[in-house]
Amino acid sequence: MPNVSEAQVLDALRSIEDPDLHRDIVSLGFIKEIKICEGNVAFQIELTTPACPVKDQMKAEAESAVMALPGVTQVAIEMTASVRGRALSPQEILPGVRHVIAVASGKGGVGKSTVSANLAVALAKEGATVGLLDADIYGPSIPMMMGIRREPDVIKSESGPKMLPVLAHGVLVMSLGFILKSDQAVVWRGPMLGKAVNDMLTGCLWGDLDYLVVDLPPGTGDVPMSLAQLVPISGVVVVTTPQQVAQDIARKSIAMFRMLEQGTGKTIPILGIVENMSGGIFGSGGAEQSAKQLEIPYLGSIPLTQTVTLSGDTGYPAVLSGESTPEGSAFMRLARQLASQLSILHFENENPPE
Ligand SMILES: Nc1ncnc2c1ncn2[C@@H]1O[C@H](COP(=O)(O)OP(=O)(O)OP(=O)(O)O)[C@@H](O)[C@H]1O
Ligand SMILES: [Mg+2]
Repeated sequence: MPNVSEAQVLDALRSIEDPDLHRDIVSLGFIKEIKICEGNVAFQIELTTPACPVKDQMKAEAESAVMALPGVTQVAIEMTASVRGRALSPQEILPGVRHVIAVASGKGGVGKSTVSANLAVALAKEGATVGLLDADIYGPSIPMMMGIRREPDVIKSESGPKMLPVLAHGVLVMSLGFILKSDQAVVWRGPMLGKAVNDMLTGCLWGDLDYLVVDLPPGTGDVPMSLAQLVPISGVVVVTTPQQVAQDIARKSIAMFRMLEQGTGKTIPILGIVENMSGGIFGSGGAEQSAKQLEIPYLGSIPLTQTVTLSGDTGYPAVLSGESTPEGSAFMRLARQLASQLSILHFENENPPE
């Protein structure tokens, strides 16, 4: 029997569609390094994020599609990823950062920092390079949640001294808490705040990152505004709790982001809404309803559990337990949904409808 050809393999793979991008994986350019040796076929599928929610399903479909070709006896597929994000120009601030994800909430205490920390760790667990920036002026809590008990190192560079973000649980972390003295009253607004945000972005060596997760302070528009002027924000994740009041406030903050123009002149996309503390005394399902009404993606829910509370106090984010616990799998699912929303947005920006 003649060997199967590369063209036959690609043809077979054309039957597989990326469920988010609605295009087949061949025309999307995902198939790399096809190698054929007699009945053995090997190739890579390069996804747009290592946190792809349908990674295993896509691999299985590709395997059976190629296996079905006459003459094929074995298929070996390696799943890889290359996160595609904004075009990186060296003149920009954060030239190596592909996606800036802002985590926001209208109301304080809904678990924004908890979600930020666990999201960042989840994306890193999936194999992405991740930074976490704590931009909460009212009470930086990320260092504690990530178990960081030291200040960042400072090194000399051509453009002056730079801070090195602190590595914790696979994530590079920088916090306003490292800059603010603990007795400093945080009544900063406007220009002062802008300067602090600027310091954390430009005064810090972030290097190349697939995702930079930014924990925003609740309410105020000052920090997101400064941030948006300095770097293009890929999108905002809005955290809310299930009760009606929380929904109302979440809506207000979504309306604010929809009006906030970036330095680029574009508004900030809403990546979706997350229901935190779901299923406890507050009930559940409120955020999903709001998402429907506002026509934004619903990214998932995180249960209200003591494990999550304790993990925040001990500096060991709940998601570290991975799929083996309800909290861990909820955060992993959330990270994948978010990563796929970012891939979709980026793809739509690059391929505007004709
Ligand atoms: N899903 C959850 N289950 C149980 N406890 C949670 C959950 N999410 C957050 N918490 C706890 O609720 C408290 C508030 O969470 P967190 O600090 O993340 O909220 P926040 O929105 O960042 O608050 P702030 O507005 O003060 O910045 C913390 O003690 C945290 O451990
Ligand atoms: Mg917080």
